[in-house]
Amino acid sequence: MKPVLSVIGTGYLGATHAACMSSLGFTVIGVDSDSAKIDQLSRGELPFYEPGLEELLRQQIASGRLTFSTDFAIISNADVHFICVGTPQKENSLAADLSFVKGAIASVAPHLKSGSLVVGKSTVPVGTAQELTAILRAIAPQADLAWNPEFLREGFAIEDTLRPNRLVVGVTNDRAEHILKDVYAPILELGTPWIRADLPTSELVKVAANSFLATKISFINAMAEICEAAGGDVTVLAQAIGYDPRIGNKFLQAGIGFGGGCLPKDIRAFMARAEELGAEQALEFLREIDAINLRARARVIDVVRSMLSADLTSYKIAVLGAAFKPESDDVRDSPALDIAAQLHAAGATVTVHDPKAMAPAQKRFPTLNFAQSSQDCVADADIVLHLTEWKEYREIDPSLFKTLVKRPLIIDGRNALDRAKWTAAGWTFHALGRKN
Ligand code: UGA
Repeated sequence: MKPVLSVIGTGYLGATHAACMSSLGFTVIGVDSDSAKIDQLSRGELPFYEPGLEELLRQQIASGRLTFSTDFAIISNADVHFICVGTPQKENSLAADLSFVKGAIASVAPHLKSGSLVVGKSTVPVGTAQELTAILRAIAPQADLAWNPEFLREGFAIEDTLRPNRLVVGVTNDRAEHILKDVYAPILELGTPWIRADLPTSELVKVAANSFLATKISFINAMAEICEAAGGDVTVLAQAIGYDPRIGNKFLQAGIGFGGGCLPKDIRAFMARAEELGAEQALEFLREIDAINLRARARVIDVVRSMLSADLTSYKIAVLGAAFKPESDDVRDSPALDIAAQLHAAGATVTVHDPKAMAPAQKRFPTLNFAQSSQDCVADADIVLHLTEWKEYREIDPSLFKTLVKRPLIIDGRNALDRAKWTAAGWTFHALGRKN
């Protein structure tokens, strides 16, 4: 008999995990205290954009295996409980806010049947799982806790969940490992590497991986700064170093840097935790990674000023892209939207377009202008900023767009447009980290 699963927290991670586990044949109960979200999911509607996920959600609801509820008592039918709630950055510090994770443990504990396994998937500071075990055992002495970090990327959530490049489980005993091997059997059959770790190592794997990815991006953006100063080309440099398999060619796309709900807050929470542990020196470099990342945004604004004027008040600026990356409608700590907001604060008239993230962007920055199409966005603009590399923007006809703008000036903040095509059409094209 397959174990019955519950998923606590039905945001990005939880909704994806619930639908994917159901697609593997498990009965899954998704629980969240947000009744609007649960109503929406129950109707087969996804509260965010993720390619293919809404279709999968509908299929799984129709199969009868996937249900959603706001009532925690319902989880008493389940054997394994995945904690998928968020751990955002605290308002007034770099540290992660653990109130949702602690709340989730307190909410599930009274309903656990004997022998239940609670499995944390949220990204947490090292040492949290041990602390949560104590909270859990105080209410449900028989229950066990494991940690199973998630590595999915937005835009590839289904693929990364069903065909991950590794499964990492932090456990304190063989029984917990056996339960998790049973749950993940269909994925293990694909030859997926399985890594058993202790609780602190499993927590650390996640933040170490995100810190490494952030470091790669800031490294190439630091090289972009040097290339600009020395007259080099960062895209050629990235290609050349990427052929060394020890370096690899992924995550070396220079531009306006990383954003989203994960990389920025994870490196900050990691630094905060290291300080608590008295090991802050070890992660001092992450402060620089964060600074390089934020500098990439500021550099774009400097370029805008150099191409227009120091005083931006009389200029119309078109921003193509609001999401933190393509194939997502997530605008959390989005570099594109941050730049748009900073230009607006500097007095420019800023109009934003995004294929998917218009509603969340508008909610976050209601004072910006929003255009329903990229053509409307650039109408009469003094300068165009390409800040999220959607396919739709790569397919723009620069000759047509030249007839729409006031001046044919463009900054490619993602090094993703075909410069030759734009310059041939008569545009002044500024690329980050390349000769201009
Ligand atoms: C990231 C990790 O890649 C996932 O493995 C992890 O599971 C997830 O965080 C998480 O912690 O939940 P995600 O936030 O979806 O995934 O986005 P990424 O694809 O990592 O991109 C992050 C940011 O870096 C984006 O703003 C992207 O535009 C930027 N980026 C990425 C670059 O500027 N250059 C690159 O070469 C790659």
